[in-house]
Amino acid sequence: MKFNFSEEHLMIQKSARDFAQQELLPGVIERDELQKFPKEEISKMGQMGFMGMMTSPKYGGGGMDTVSYILAMEEISKIDASSSVIMSVNNSLVCWGIEKYGTEDQKQKYLPKLTSGENIGAFCLSEPEAGSDATSQRTTAIENKDHYVLNGTKNWITNGNSASIYLVIAQSDVEKKHKGINVFILERDWDGISIGAKENKLGIRGSDTHSVMFSDVKIPKENKIGEDGFGFKFAMQTLSGGRIGIAAQALGIASGAYELALKYSKERKAFGKPICHHQAIAFKLADMATEIEAARLLCLKAAWDKDNGRDYSLSGAMAKLYCAERAMQISIEAVQIHGGYGYVKEYHVERLMRDAKITQIYEGTSEIQKIVISRSIIS
Ligand code: CAA
Repeated sequence: MKFNFSEEHLMIQKSARDFAQQELLPGVIERDELQKFPKEEISKMGQMGFMGMMTSPKYGGGGMDTVSYILAMEEISKIDASSSVIMSVNNSLVCWGIEKYGTEDQKQKYLPKLTSGENIGAFCLSEPEAGSDATSQRTTAIENKDHYVLNGTKNWITNGNSASIYLVIAQSDVEKKHKGINVFILERDWDGISIGAKENKLGIRGSDTHSVMFSDVKIPKENKIGEDGFGFKFAMQTLSGGRIGIAAQALGIASGAYELALKYSKERKAFGKPICHHQAIAFKLADMATEIEAARLLCLKAAWDKDNGRDYSLSGAMAKLYCAERAMQISIEAVQIHGGYGYVKEYHVERLMRDAKITQIYEGTSEIQKIVISRSIIS
């Protein structure tokens, strides 16, 4: 058993860390405050190879392993969780889903622009009445000669307005329940697609979250992914990998908050000494460091499972659950260690605390991860 990273892993980690410090940190408070999408930053992330890290070089991707992706996600998320969710959806849901299950034509047509960052992808599963209960899709895609006709509304779609490519999950045969669900690749400028108002969110405010509406959208049959009825399995398989990315995002938020708290606690003096030398603070730091180490190991184990062809839905769910819960708690503690300064924006920890909350909700809430984990260990 080896616990060391390869030279390549360390290089990717460093390049993500440097990029986050140099390119993401300077505008992160303003983007959060103004809910400004990091357009230029994402374009640079595309040029750096962060938007299609695991995709084959044949389609413009980096051909890297999941461990590399996790290391980069952690570093980007330490500084800007809004940019990292855009990266995560593009990498592990959209690019991975198309490369794994798409036709050669679909891959050649859509992947190069997604991996380069020229196009951004969105994953449209959730609906006003189908969030956790994902089989209850109301959006319909009805077959009609050489195409499908799509009608319905998707909610809380990350990259909702900035995406050029949408993966849309929809019901094609109600009688068959989840076995009648399909998945399609849609292009933003097709007739019948409209975008709802931007959600005014608690955290990850730089990312754009919208509802996306479909009214009689004509989808050519060649834009369906997989066999008839494959859509729900596609969503579940894709989300199993997506959850490893969100686990890494949560890990990054936790480690970012911890690093800031550690630094501050060494500088800030109270009662005649740096506050890190007060046991109340030192023990908090000890707990944070231990939990982050555990979270990182769970995350890397899930990534390793994926890279080695092992089942990763259980390890991914465990990583997502633990990292998200720790990110929330650790970022709250980081604010507490900062005291009054933690409550103001310049010190970054309040943003990390707000950003942490979503990791307990999207790509399957913590409660959904417990369903996945408990079913797996009980069965
Ligand atoms: N891989 C492959 N197949 C899977 C699977 C997996 N991980 N999980 C379930 N399935 C299959 C089952 O085997 C079953 O197939 P069969 O009928 O052929 O046996 C089928 O899917 C239905 O499974 P269940 O009976 O377990 O379905 P369920 O209704 O009980 O619920 C669930 C399953 C795990 C709760 C699921 O609904 C779920 O994960 N819900 C959460 C949805 C979610 O994560 N949404 C996130 C939105 S996307 C997002 O947030 C992106 C973003 O913008 C950031």
